[in-house]
Amino acid sequence: MKIAIAADHGGYELKQIIHPFLLSLGYEVKDFGAFELDNADDYPDFIVPMARAIAAKEFDRAIAICGSGVGASVAANKIAGVRAALINEHFSAHQGVEDDNLNMLCLGGRVTGYMAAQELIVAFLNARFTGAERHLRRLQKVHLLEK
Ligand code: RB5
Repeated sequence: MKIAIAADHGGYELKQIIHPFLLSLGYEVKDFGAFELDNADDYPDFIVPMARAIAAKEFDRAIAICGSGVGASVAANKIAGVRAALINEHFSAHQGVEDDNLNMLCLGGRVTGYMAAQELIVAFLNARFTGAERHLRRLQKVHLLEK
């Protein structure tokens, strides 16, 4: 599985922790930055290029981190084909994939501790979209909004 990760300064520290964590689990990882801690950087500069790449299916899943996870999810969901959500608890980390075919997990680097983040990431990456007819129907209605 190919995983993309990106963060602004608010998520930089957590990204630096989850990158080796993902490698240790055997995932192929591409880091879209930030590559240094710069308190003046802007989350769209890192999240949007990654969002375009996941929308183009260059990766299987993406993980976006800013301070709260809010800005990352707002920016990412502007890109057609991205289904991003800010997740703070375990149930939604897997149910968001199973029902809503979530392809981008957004985390708050200033909100979620690194052990909890790792558990959310594992739940997200291990989950699979069920493909149930009712979920496909709902997603098709969402997809029509992108036209
Ligand atoms: C940056 O200070 C912070 O606003 C950003 O990381 C993020 O939390 C936005 O939603």
